[in-house]
Amino acid sequence: MAAQGLSARRSGPLKGRVRAPGDKSISHRALLLGALAEGSTEIEGLLEGEDVKRTAAAMAAFGATVERLGEGRWRVEGRGGFAEPADVVDCGNAGTGVRLIMGAAAGFELAVTFTGDQSLRGRPMNRVLKPLGEMGARWICRSGGRLPLTLQGGGLKRIAYRLPEPSAQVKSAVLLAGLHAEGGAEVIEPEATRDHTERMLRGFGADVQVTDEAGARRIVLPPGQQLRGTSIHVPGDPSSAAFPLVAALITPGSEVTVEGLLLNPLRTGLLETLREMGADLTVANVRDEGGESVGDVTARHSQLKGVEVPPERAPSMIDEYPILAVAAAFAEGRTAMRGIGEMRVKESDRIALMAAGLAACGVGVEEEPEALTVVGSARGNHPVAGGARVVTHGDHRIAMSHLVMGLASDQPVSVDEPGMIATSFPGFVSLMTGLGAEIDEDRPAAA
Ligand code: S3P
Repeated sequence: MAAQGLSARRSGPLKGRVRAPGDKSISHRALLLGALAEGSTEIEGLLEGEDVKRTAAAMAAFGATVERLGEGRWRVEGRGGFAEPADVVDCGNAGTGVRLIMGAAAGFELAVTFTGDQSLRGRPMNRVLKPLGEMGARWICRSGGRLPLTLQGGGLKRIAYRLPEPSAQVKSAVLLAGLHAEGGAEVIEPEATRDHTERMLRGFGADVQVTDEAGARRIVLPPGQQLRGTSIHVPGDPSSAAFPLVAALITPGSEVTVEGLLLNPLRTGLLETLREMGADLTVANVRDEGGESVGDVTARHSQLKGVEVPPERAPSMIDEYPILAVAAAFAEGRTAMRGIGEMRVKESDRIALMAAGLAACGVGVEEEPEALTVVGSARGNHPVAGGARVVTHGDHRIAMSHLVMGLASDQPVSVDEPGMIATSFPGFVSLMTGLGAEIDEDRPAAA
């Protein structure tokens, strides 16, 4: 029997004001630093997606007291360090969760076994294990640096690590390990990646020095840091807000506002690219919330045009290329996305799955090892055909991107495994239908 899917069909104008769920990157870090700190950390606006709930459970397994006080309101009582978990730590689908927790755990004299779901067990951990190994951590794992993996931490020494690929996860793992390394840690990143770990470490009282060196960022964490519990307000996730915003841009007559969106410049590459494509996007009520800039972003239906996305923009929108590819399908002309090889090692091979899904819906695509080009179909009233059931390999962003595409396609677009959407955006379907989107249980695609 085929698994229950979800189907999205051509919808009337989308209208309304919504709040995006809490930022996933910041939510993981808030729980982690809360558990590493001494004392109480109160979190508001925490993303209650499956990925983050796994991190909450992991922090409890490492000895912190983690309590849910109400919707999005959590308290973590940290013990100033990690104790050895009594059982395997299962991080589910979460690459950020497992890589950051591994970094933090490496600083302590303990042995811990990590695992995850099928997707996570297929993802490379070598990128984190390499620097952690240089610092002195040891492990045993499946071939190719795959989970399950048993890590033996403790006795770490200082590292000065130059990131071979732009990865905030690797940077963060090294910095978190550096908290308990003799001599601290230093990371050099030739391309700037999201800086939530650095910002939040400071919020917990750590001294983090960031300097610009010949175009690269040098981040130094001196030894002997004491983290103290604090309070954190988690802003709205730009990677989730991207779905209702792009839905409004491609659905005629729409106007949608997403409130309280994180506007950290290392996360706004999609907004910049959509503007270059001619998107009518306005930002209002920009304010500072807990050390991060946030604002309310309004998107109105727009005739988009194809663009070349500069490769150096990739780190600031790496999770947003799937939904950008959908916007590009409705644009006039070609949109070329280059330097996006990292997309192949996310929750799925996102270049391959977007290329296959778009092609199945009648959109012209060209796939290369590190690039994806979408040939836009919008010329007057010539819509995207749709009419496909898309295989998502359990990837939440592949599912949401194709559902958004269905809202403005000629024929419905459906996806398998829609349950995985809850890893990052638990209220996605009700938020979208509240705006007027027609998304419901799978109906057969056009005959
Ligand atoms: C994240 C970093 C990015 C991103 C992921 C979240 C983080 O991964 O794709 O969803 O919170 O640090 P990489 O560090 O592998 O680029």
